[in-house]
Amino acid sequence: MRTDPLAYLSAELDALAAQGLRRSLREISGEQAHRSVVDGKSVVNLSSNNYLGLTNHPALKQRAIEAIERLGVGSGSVRTIAGTMAIHAELERVLADFKQVDAVVVFQSGFTANAGTVSSILTKEDVVISDELNHASIIDGCRLSRATIKVFPHKDVDAARKILRELPPAQRKLLITDGVFSMDGDLGPLPGLCAAAEEYGAIMMVDDAHASGVFGRNGRGTVDHFAMHGRVDVQVGTLSKAIGALGGYVAGSRALIDFLHHRARPFLFSTSHPPSVAATCLGAVQLLLDEPQIIERLWENTRFFQAGLKRLGFDIGLTESPITPVIVGEGSKAMQLSDKLFAAGVFAQGIAFPTVARDKARVRTIVTATHTQDELQFALDAFATVGRELGLI
Ligand SMILES: Cc1ncc(COP(=O)(O)O)c(C=O)c1O
Repeated sequence: MRTDPLAYLSAELDALAAQGLRRSLREISGEQAHRSVVDGKSVVNLSSNNYLGLTNHPALKQRAIEAIERLGVGSGSVRTIAGTMAIHAELERVLADFKQVDAVVVFQSGFTANAGTVSSILTKEDVVISDELNHASIIDGCRLSRATIKVFPHKDVDAARKILRELPPAQRKLLITDGVFSMDGDLGPLPGLCAAAEEYGAIMMVDDAHASGVFGRNGRGTVDHFAMHGRVDVQVGTLSKAIGALGGYVAGSRALIDFLHHRARPFLFSTSHPPSVAATCLGAVQLLLDEPQIIERLWENTRFFQAGLKRLGFDIGLTESPITPVIVGEGSKAMQLSDKLFAAGVFAQGIAFPTVARDKARVRTIVTATHTQDELQFALDAFATVGRELGLI
């Protein structure tokens, strides 16, 4: 009989189980919402990136249905062959206006936008200067580019400057940061990094996945929040989180976008969005412009929930955004906290190594604009009970 050549994978899974880190995927029946049915249980959902509650917004569902009826369910091709439908181009024009840049290109996801862009604009002769907590899609893009990667300590502008200073002036270099860090919720130090990039002639890139729809006027992102327009060469945004659908985009100069049309591999080699996705995103951008009060509700809920957790004595790190980590230390403790919260009716996913450092495991929460204060108070009460049970507060 043939021996299983993948047996080592089971051994690794057993090792994860022994450390209390093996997880099965939780399943949501029904809609992704502020209250969802997860593994058959109705829970307050604090685990999604559905910041504005747009995943099931009636007007956006209507847009998607109308697009399916008018344009079908798929695009049938990659963008560069036959997969550029008028609605894809319309979305890019609307996003370019929204972001106040020359041009935008939409990718299948934020992940492919980051990885496809970094890997195509750099070569192995180049250098990337990257925050140590930048997202995995940036790291993968850097690795694919084969550029030299120099990592600076989290948010340490002086350390980034030091790396830049030591590089030859003619060296092509990319300085890159997340706008909002996805596991801690703090903001990239854009003003300091932009100034350093300008001083040393680096390309400046910001991944605004968690800022899209959350920070800046009408959710334009951290570049708008910090008034850095014209100083960031490459902005990445996502359509998969606050915008409620799926996709990522790059915003920048016409030449950057034209270059990505020719060289970004996910754009060249993977089919474009179904037209209903583009239609939904168009509707979502319109909502951000017409109803910015949705974003204000997100921030009200964020303030209420974070103040409650702090009052209880939890460590929520240095968050400046709706991403609210409840940091507990050990991975198995975070999973215990998550499991007990779930039993108490609150869905807050545990996050451990390798997503965060080994001693910084946490439960990561995000409230949405659509949670009611009763739901948030219910969640705070559950955190209080379970936190005391586990000796965390
Ligand atoms: C900082 C950051 N960048 C990029 C992405 C990828 O975005 P998407 O989910 O649209 O692929 C994520 C999502 O996890 C993220 O947190």
